Parts: sequence; C-alpha cells; structure tokens
Amino acid sequence: MVDVLAVGRGGDDSEALERAVRTLAAGGLVAVPTETVYGLAARADDGEAVARIFAAKGRPAHNPLIVHVPDAAAARAVAAAWPDAAARLAAAFWPGPLSLVVPRGERVHPSVTAGGSTIAVRAPAVAVTRELLARLGLPVAAPSANRSESLSPTTAQHVVSGLGDRVDLVLDAGPCAVGIESTVVDVSVEPPRLLRPGSVTAVDLARILPTLALDPPPRDAPARSPGLARRHYAPRARVVLAATADVAAALADAEDPAGLLTLHARPALAPAWQRHLGSDPAAYARGLFAALHDADAAHCRTLVVELPPDSEPWRAIRDRLTRASATA
Ligand code: TXA
Ligand code: MG
Repeated sequence: MVDVLAVGRGGDDSEALERAVRTLAAGGLVAVPTETVYGLAARADDGEAVARIFAAKGRPAHNPLIVHVPDAAAARAVAAAWPDAAARLAAAFWPGPLSLVVPRGERVHPSVTAGGSTIAVRAPAVAVTRELLARLGLPVAAPSANRSESLSPTTAQHVVSGLGDRVDLVLDAGPCAVGIESTVVDVSVEPPRLLRPGSVTAVDLARILPTLALDPPPRDAPARSPGLARRHYAPRARVVLAATADVAAALADAEDPAGLLTLHARPALAPAWQRHLGSDPAAYARGLFAALHDADAAHCRTLVVELPPDSEPWRAIRDRLTRASATA
C-alpha cells in the first residue's frame, strides 16, 4: 500500500515535507493537496520523472501538464516571457486556482509541454504544498492525480483508489476547498483567452483583463488545449443532464440502478442513489467530484443530473457536467 501522510492539520509537518522533498528530488511521484483537486507531482526538469506521470495516469503524451511554483517569481523563471497580462493576473489571483499559459522557458523538460512552445503555470494556495515547492526549489509538473479520462480526486482517498501503488507517496490535507480544476487562461496570445472555466470566473478575470476572449479557440489554432476534449471529467455512470422540470421524466427513463444529483432534495423521487448539492455554486463545486465518485461506488448505471442555472457563477460547473455527459 502507498504511504498516506496527514499534513496541514496544525501538527508538525516537517517530517512529511522532508520525505516528499526527498521523493520528488529522486524523481518519484508525490500526490499533493491543492485547493482545486489533488495533483500528481514530479520534478519538471527531469524527463524520466515526467514520463512517470504520463505512465501513472495513462495520459497521452500530447496533453501538456501544468507546472506548479510557489510564487510569481518562480513562474517567471520557467517562462521565456512574462506578459503584462500574466503579471496582472498573478498579482490579483495568486496563490490561487488560476493557471496561466505563457511562452515556455528552458528550465522545464520539453515533455512537460508535449513539445509545445507554451507552458501552463500556477501557484497553488494550500500552505503545505507551497512550503513543499519552496523547499524543493524546483518547478513541479502536476496534473490532477487521477487516471486519464476519469474523475479528478478531491480527497486523498480518491487518489489512493484511482492510482494506488502507481504513486510513491500521498500527502493528505483533507478535502479540497474549491473542488474543481483551476481556471486556465492563455496569456501568450492577444487578446488573452479563457481555455478552461474555473472558480476564478470570467467576471473576476474581466475586472483585471477587460479584453479577455471567452469563446473556445479556433479549431485550427496551433495551441489548442487537449484537456478541452469534449468528453472529460466523467464518471463511469452514463450522465444525463436534465432541466429542473424534466428531472422526474429523465429518471423514469434511466437505466437501473439510477442515481440522481440535484440542486435541492427531491424526496418524492426514490432512485437507488441520490444527492443534492444546494444552490450555492462554491459549495456545489466543492461537493461535485466527491458526489460523482460516490455515484460510481454505488454502481449507478445512469446518473441524472439537474442542470444548474445558465449564468456566470455556474459556468465552470456546467462545463464539467457537459463534458461528463458527452459520449465521445
Ligand atoms: O487545478 C488544476 O489545474 C489541477 C491541480 C492539480 O493544479 N491540475 C489539473 O491538471 O487540472 P490537468 O493536467 O488535469 O489539466 C491541465 C489542463 C489540461 O486541460 C491541459 O490540456 C491544459 O491544462 N494545458 C496544460 N498546458 C497547456 C498549454 N501549454 N497550453 C494550453 N493548455 C494547456
Ligand atoms: Mg485532469
């Protein structure tokens, strides 16, 4: 069994941190807590360490990884250029759930960016992980700590059940506070473009960058983001999205055992599995992946999901649900 070390609970983390630093320095894989989802970390300057990430995830080599750094100064050191938009967004939102795509520098192994000329960087907010990055003193590549195409992990237990012995060490800081992956903004293009919605919303971003483009990149753009693949973030259950008024009918049509994920409790409906996540987008995001993991654990074949409102605060959640429901 992989070792899981509790951290960030007010105790002394120095031994766990030291072990994580040693493991990473030696080219190993450490699952680390971030405020969004757990990351599968390896040193980003070492091609063999990076190859272990791709192997552990079963991730295609053409899908680039996000590099994690303690702060903006460390981000600049892995970038070939630091556009004004990057400086402004980092000052406003770091440490936090925002990844910035910038021109790639020389300090990171080319396999991290799948050979591409840009690199995604972010400074995560969880204190123990920032401390780990600062002590290691190296850029760290960390995709979400799940097998490719499956659900992102928001607890250490999700990491262990998804990756098991494929990872050398797990740092467990409890459930992630945000619960969905970081917002990704490409600031290597003009105007900068939103590539993946997240808890830093388009409204938050537009306050700093009024010219931000929100539409998906053109199909023939050189640096499309492979993680924008239509099907992603999916549970094993078939996900059916339903408007509030259509939930009962969708459930009646669902293959058993059926699950139901709604905004508010629907006691009149009695599927095999049921969960409601409330009408606050932040709380909903925090609970979403754990609910999807749970529906899978309950062996739901179909999961009927009530669609949240079509408004800015729900953009990232609707994005993840839409991808989860895509069939190809
Ligand atoms: O919240 C997060 O971002 C989590 C935690 C661990 O930090 N990480 C995460 O990584 O979600 P991953 O690898 O599962 O998703 C990274 C996304 C993918 O959609 C990938 O295609 C995109 O970022 N990406 C990475 N580098 C890119 C680049 N140079 N240009 C465009 N997209 C990039
Ligand atoms: Mg992922």
